[in-house]
Amino acid sequence: MSFLRYYLGNVIPHLQTPRLLLRPLELSDADQAQILFPHWEIVRYLSTTVPWPYPPDGAHTFYRDVALPAIRRGDEWYWTLRLKTEPDQLIGCISLVKGEKDNRGFWLGLPWHRQGLMTEACEAATSFWFNVLKFPRLRVPKAVANTASRRISEKSGMRLVAREERDYVSRRLPTEIWEITAEEWNARREKAPA
Ligand SMILES: CC(C)(COP(=O)(O)OP(=O)(O)OC[C@H]1O[C@@H](n2cnc3c(N)ncnc32)[C@H](O)[C@@H]1OP(=O)(O)O)[C@@H](O)C(=O)NCCC(=O)NCCS
Repeated sequence: MSFLRYYLGNVIPHLQTPRLLLRPLELSDADQAQILFPHWEIVRYLSTTVPWPYPPDGAHTFYRDVALPAIRRGDEWYWTLRLKTEPDQLIGCISLVKGEKDNRGFWLGLPWHRQGLMTEACEAATSFWFNVLKFPRLRVPKAVANTASRRISEKSGMRLVAREERDYVSRRLPTEIWEITAEEWNARREKAPA
């Protein structure tokens, strides 16, 4: 099955939220990402797999050599984020990754921060993780200093399960691992007001 999926392509569906379109990543998204992504406020709490200073072809190389092959293997799922009101403008990205501890990643362009947009994108991507991909748990690491990202975990009912240190673009920092199970995720959604 995974052999077949590799050759046919791992088809990622379009998702949406009240304000956002989540569109499966394409190589042609690299040009817009290259403008929005390489800013210190965005990269400082990302892992050292992000090169810094960011090269002029950084987004293109990453999408071509890392993200798109991982999507084809069925190991990762990437969506670009767009406002429904301006669907041609990429504003950020969210990804899901198979494995033990690093199952979701995201970034948003600076002009769109603090409007609840990544909270919305996380709802859609996390529901896909549990209810379409059927993984039993989602775990994500966060630098303790990354208040916005930690708040997204807190607000969505995740639990802090471990502490460790990790290397980030800025430096080595105390890190928390947050977790939620499929049962917890779906119970929380059933309780949410209509
Ligand atoms: C993390 C990130 C995606 C958040 O996106 P966002 O759309 O601005 O987040 P939201 O508006 O949904 O806010 C989520 C919560 O964090 C809070 N928050 C957002 N930005 C904040 C900031 N700079 N400082 C403190 N709190 C912040 C919000 O107030 C909200 O909490 P509330 O509902 O209690 O008010 C964005 O800051 C970003 O791209 N950061 C750089 C990349 C990154 O760190 N990715 C995560 C790696 S683990």
